[in-house]
Amino acid sequence: MTRVTLIPGDGIGPEIADYTVQVLEAAGADIQWDVQEAGQAVYEATGELIPDPVYQSIEANGLALKGPMTTPIGTGFRSANVALRKKYDLYANLRPVRSLGQVPALFDDLDLVLFRENTEDLYAGVEEKISDDVMHSIKIITRQASERIIRQAFDYAQDHHRRHVTVVTKANIMKLSNGLFLDTARQVAQDYPEIPLKEVLVDNMAMQLVINPKQFDVIVTENLYGDILSDLMAGLIGGLGLVPGANIGDNLAIFEAVHGSAPDIAGQGKANPTAMILSACLLLDHIGQTDCAQKIRQSLDRVLSQKEKLTADLGGPASGSEYCQALCQDLKNNK
Ligand code: NAI
Repeated sequence: MTRVTLIPGDGIGPEIADYTVQVLEAAGADIQWDVQEAGQAVYEATGELIPDPVYQSIEANGLALKGPMTTPIGTGFRSANVALRKKYDLYANLRPVRSLGQVPALFDDLDLVLFRENTEDLYAGVEEKISDDVMHSIKIITRQASERIIRQAFDYAQDHHRRHVTVVTKANIMKLSNGLFLDTARQVAQDYPEIPLKEVLVDNMAMQLVINPKQFDVIVTENLYGDILSDLMAGLIGGLGLVPGANIGDNLAIFEAVHGSAPDIAGQGKANPTAMILSACLLLDHIGQTDCAQKIRQSLDRVLSQKEKLTADLGGPASGSEYCQALCQDLKNNK
């Protein structure tokens, strides 16, 4: 049995974490959960967003499934999510965007995978105040961090028989920083002669994704562009409730949905747990329980093909709990 740290987080986190645990149990996942509290409520009670036992648990297990955590905008503490990714050097952020069931969406049959560099760029947190009226945020791009994420994207493309890799930058304007990322992609691509490298500028990429996303396959990009484009891609298949993520480093991995804590719907029973369930599927893949992950994905496709089982974000009448029960029942029926 694999021991995994489970951090429910805040906002809709505890609801969707509870549903996810139920679904994994119904699918027969061989996981023992080590539940740890972190996030806004813990911060308000203790002054610490991520208390020490949470770090100790993640380090002991090497694996975590995490719900979203709220980050105040503009002021207050820095993002706990960004802090975890930096602390454990979780440099590869994998975000698969795949059409599910019969969910009403702009596109069906979409199957894209985005690799986002997860440790540097404008998210490195290097900011300086020049005066009350002038602030600087420094964009940091290094060859080493660029190379390891680009290699991950090519390795994935090779292992999963993907058609090509698209590198997204703004190298025409930020010639040094984005130029380095692009140059590194061109060099890495030479080691994978059977996988063509496409180059697209980020503004054009946003437009191309909206009008013809099927021209893409595996996408690799810098931190900020990856953050924005993955939300856009979520919108193509039905919304943020559906897109999972993995933050992978050399020694440790944390799995979490792309979406945040959704304070607008928290505690109302409306949250869609699909993204967190699919994040758990990425975890199952990672620890070699791929059959169990596939069983859950097939169940999601079946249940998401029934209009009456869809949650409110997908235009349906079901609560998160009713949807979860439908998934558990489907898994039991299709053992
Ligand atoms: P959000 O992703 O929480 O919500 C955006 C919209 O999508 C909202 O209308 C929300 O109701 C909806 N939505 C998101 N997830 C959903 C789900 N599972 N089911 C149904 N509807 C869903 O983004 P927002 O509002 O910008 O951020 C809220 C908080 O979350 C902020 O404090 C932000 O910093 C934090 N955040 C945390 C992340 C993490 O923990 N990894 C990632 C992104 C944001």
